[in-house]
Amino acid sequence: MDSFIIEGGSKICGSVKISGSKNSSLPILFSTVLTDERCVINNVPELMDIKTTYELLSYCGKTCFFGFNSFSVDEKNKIITEAPYDLVRKMRASVLIAGPMLARFKHVKFSMPGGCAIGVRPIDIHLDGFKKFGADVKLDAGYVILSAKKLKPAVISLKFPSVGATENIMMLASLVEGKSVIKNAAKEPEISDLACVLNKMGARVSGAGSNEIVVEGSEKLKGFEHNVIPDRIEAGTFLILTALCGGRLELLNVESRHIETLLKKLEKTGAILEVYDNRIVISSGKKILPSDIKTEPYPGYPTDLQAQWTSYMSVADGKSMVVENIFENRFMHVAELIRMGADIEIKHNTVIINGVKNLKGATVMASDLRAGAGLILAGARAQGITKVRRVYHIDRGYEKIELKLLAAGVKIKRIVDE
Ligand code: UD1
Repeated sequence: MDSFIIEGGSKICGSVKISGSKNSSLPILFSTVLTDERCVINNVPELMDIKTTYELLSYCGKTCFFGFNSFSVDEKNKIITEAPYDLVRKMRASVLIAGPMLARFKHVKFSMPGGCAIGVRPIDIHLDGFKKFGADVKLDAGYVILSAKKLKPAVISLKFPSVGATENIMMLASLVEGKSVIKNAAKEPEISDLACVLNKMGARVSGAGSNEIVVEGSEKLKGFEHNVIPDRIEAGTFLILTALCGGRLELLNVESRHIETLLKKLEKTGAILEVYDNRIVISSGKKILPSDIKTEPYPGYPTDLQAQWTSYMSVADGKSMVVENIFENRFMHVAELIRMGADIEIKHNTVIINGVKNLKGATVMASDLRAGAGLILAGARAQGITKVRRVYHIDRGYEKIELKLLAAGVKIKRIVDE
């Protein structure tokens, strides 16, 4: 198992190119199941989750190639409509294969994703949606089996704007002839990116980015070529890193309008920003002013940047509050930050942070992807050496993270633990 060793205290400098979005790439890769034609997806980050998707699509019979951030998918073999436990266990987003499979083959069997480090994470919203299209849902020995003789268009109101459920239902609806409507849909930029792909495939999707999406499905969909949008969470992580450690950083290949809420928050803490459409330059302020956040569905503050903000506020000049509204149990990084000298108290879904002068290096453990990112940031700022264990969580979602951090002035190296 790999760990990162970080020597804290360096100022941030230089320029970092932001990778393609992981959360956009995943549904787009699964949308290739909707067609038997060739699909080419560019700007796909090289990550563990992408490798898992490659394995799952290949297991199902698709022919995949991936290199230089370009992913191509062909269909030369018979498709197996099953997602086994071993692959779903590695990545919860594997559930995104269900909508496309059900739409095209009227059958899919996939392992229940189960719980994970950031809460129970059920899939009831996905399943309720599929039922509305006429699918029959059975549970059998840890597997979900969806089947239908014929699928019919549907009008669905989601009880919560789940990102994954919106994506799964959009993909399904694209291959069901007629007009379907998703109300209370998620509005994340990744939804709009997927809608763009589905339109290239021949469906007519409108309203993506608003809370009501209309999908006019087609009987057959075609292949496509697409460039994935930049990763707003990676961009946000590097912006917070700079504000936290001090210095100046230029971000390239960023979509600034996707992180407006974060940019406003950073300005409130004293950071200085030069914002262009696809480029941002951030300089740290004289001191870090405290500022509260609460995580919300887009365009609110993203839950995937909550851990990084908690690290940031742990050295702010005063008291702040972080409220987590999206996931239960997403404060696993807090105990580790406390071990590094942070003064933080957890009350249900809220943490209260009393800023300290500085953190001290320690051995800490990444419990999930974004918690891991938060700990790297803390280590980069802390006095002394920090060892972040269980780096495999971080490798799921950040492309070449240590190389990018090195380029930004962070003293970091990867080691293999015995
Ligand atoms: C996606 C992102 C993840 C991000 C999250 C919230 C991907 C691959 N992952 O995850 O990085 O943190 O959005 O922005 O894009 N819920 C239910 N029932 C369901 C589905 C969800 O109760 O059927 C709940 C979840 O437990 C959670 C909340 O809804 O509390 C949000 O989940 P959702 O928006 O579905 O997140 P994901 O799509 O899994």
